Amino acid sequence: MPTMQLPQTALREDPTRPAALLMREVTKTYDGAHTVLDRVSLQVPRGSFLAVMGPAGSGKSTLLHCAAGLDSPTSGEVFIGGTELSRLDEARRTALRRDRIGFVFQSYNLLPSLTVEENITLPLRLSGAPADRRWLGELADRVGIGPLLRRRAGRLSAGQQQKAAIARSLAARPEVVFADEPTGALDPGSADEVLDLLRDLVDEFAQTVVMVTHDPDAAARAHATAVMGGGRIDRYFPRPTALELARHLTYLETT
Ligand SMILES: Nc1ncnc2c1ncn2[C@@H]1O[C@H](COP(=O)(O)OP(=O)(O)O)[C@@H](O)[C@H]1O
Ligand SMILES: [Mg+2]
Repeated sequence: MPTMQLPQTALREDPTRPAALLMREVTKTYDGAHTVLDRVSLQVPRGSFLAVMGPAGSGKSTLLHCAAGLDSPTSGEVFIGGTELSRLDEARRTALRRDRIGFVFQSYNLLPSLTVEENITLPLRLSGAPADRRWLGELADRVGIGPLLRRRAGRLSAGQQQKAAIARSLAARPEVVFADEPTGALDPGSADEVLDLLRDLVDEFAQTVVMVTHDPDAAARAHATAVMGGGRIDRYFPRPTALELARHLTYLETT
């Protein structure tokens, strides 16, 4: 049966093989009153694919932002590959975000007047890291945008833009990719391609992916699904089917 919160015993770090993401008792409150995350604990093994679901306003984006170091928890600990984020100063946290974390937004956030290639390499160039041209070529081909590299990003279809954004998120070979509703703005066909791509990255490159979605079909492509509710991980489905998730979400909406 699915567990509610993950048991604390499952959250002990093996220092020789740290999880890609470990969150321990993470709380986030706004204005000292509104508790969005209430002691959330979560462990995501390397090379696994976790979906995060839950009603609007249940804290999915907040969870992702705290996990990715884009936002700081009010209390609790977040480890990326064994490194605890709150112990880093701002410069080191920025470097960790840049080198070890990828983020994919619903709205792609590409610069429309730059080429696809310029968009993909921009974060690397800003950080002064040498671009590994072979890897970038492989990545563009794998993501399916190889022939589009010289095109201006603004001229791409929505699905192509999201693939370019995924390539950008992977350029620095991050340990974890966080994706917040990556298919939310796509037509069903493009959404399917983007989901296939994310799943293939997990299967072929042992990439770790944490994806927020409200589509049960999308979540069912992941290995496991955490459902947020009441500031907690209300349910954890280890290997859900789309039908099982759809039933659970319908149940949440009607109770
Ligand atoms: N910067 C903020 N200041 C105050 N409240 C916020 C802020 N960001 C998010 N919230 C609140 O936190 C709750 C969860 O938001 P969010 O994580 O975006 O939920 P979800 O992604 O599940 O829709 C919402 O009630 C939202 O209004
Ligand atoms: Mg959100």
